[in-house]
Amino acid sequence: MYIESLRLHDFRSYRQVMLTPPRGTTVFVGENGTGKTNLLEAVHLCCLGRSHRTSNDREMIRSGAETCAVQVRVQRGDGADTVGVRLFMPTEKKRKVLHINGKTASRTGELMGHVTCVMFSPEDIELMRGAPQGRRRFLDMLLSQCGAGYFYALQNYNSALKQRNALLHAIAKGEARAAQLEVWDEQLAAAAAPVVKARQYAAGSLCQLAAGHYAHIGGRENEVFALRYMGHLAESAAPADDLLKLLHARREEDLRRVTTTAGPHRDDLLLTLSGEDMRAFASQGQMRTAVLALRLSEVDMLTQRQGESPLLLLDDVLSELDAGRRTRLLSRISGIQTLLTCTDLSDLTGAKADAVLHVKLGEITA
Ligand SMILES: Nc1ncnc2c1ncn2[C@@H]1O[C@H](COP(=O)(O)OP(=O)(O)OP(=O)(O)O)[C@@H](O)[C@H]1O
Ligand SMILES: [Mg+2]
Repeated sequence: MYIESLRLHDFRSYRQVMLTPPRGTTVFVGENGTGKTNLLEAVHLCCLGRSHRTSNDREMIRSGAETCAVQVRVQRGDGADTVGVRLFMPTEKKRKVLHINGKTASRTGELMGHVTCVMFSPEDIELMRGAPQGRRRFLDMLLSQCGAGYFYALQNYNSALKQRNALLHAIAKGEARAAQLEVWDEQLAAAAAPVVKARQYAAGSLCQLAAGHYAHIGGRENEVFALRYMGHLAESAAPADDLLKLLHARREEDLRRVTTTAGPHRDDLLLTLSGEDMRAFASQGQMRTAVLALRLSEVDMLTQRQGESPLLLLDDVLSELDAGRRTRLLSRISGIQTLLTCTDLSDLTGAKADAVLHVKLGEITA
């Protein structure tokens, strides 16, 4: 798939922009803080209905404006798709309106799969070092782009979890009885099953794909990268039954801690290099290679799923790589439309740019 046009209106630092990137690689070059990442963020917003770097939508509305809009038109193997997102300040009645091929969509899930992207960003290093939440988000974003079914299953699980936790609070305050938990235990267990099954599948595929990418980019035969799904139900063949049993077994603990202590909301991914936990063991460079391997695996999975490659958004990642890793990364992504940012064109040594655009605060020039 490739972007034919990208339009921004009052988005972050941009008042009005319209871009028609070529099918190959477009480079956005500019000093720090000029609005390069803002452009990639706009594409991400159209793919997943949210930013890759903030959960606060209003941050994306240009200071002083009441609303912003982003629209992307892509060509796919089976025709064109136009997706738009409009965000409103909290003073307005509406917060977010989605448009898909001229029709208003009421649920964010409807957006999934129309325009898909993989974002490589410097913050990805948090996947290696940061809290489990970041690794769960990585899996969730990938699986949501693979199909809206996962996105809805996750929403369903999160809402059952919220209700069960609210009931635990009510019980703690003496406003409800412990026996009332039974109905939410069953709902939560049933809602967990599709989430767990999808994550089991994704972790298995990612592990296999990422090992290959790590070996290729790292260029060292003796380093074996692997990933394992960790969680109460990671190995379960019957996640709904097993979670129900776990919830029963842990009921006293849940009541005491006033929260649900078992379920996929506690999942994690264990990332290892030659059998050792990377968090405690790996160098900065090894972590960066592992992150690239994960992102490239995401590209593979989306490509397999939809029969064509997603858009690639490379935010300031080339400058961090040595020449060999950069060349090997670029060889893996050639042929896929890429929007790439850098602060200096010398970061691009070895890369082929089909268009170079200069970014100064609020404007883009050839
Ligand atoms: N809502 C907003 N309204 C107006 N300007 C904004 C808004 N949000 C961010 N900006 C401006 O956008 C700029 C940051 O944009 P961005 O993060 O894209 O920079 P960048 O070019 O990627 O920088 P770096 O090279 O440091 O990563 C800042 O100047 C910031 O003031
Ligand atoms: Mg940036």
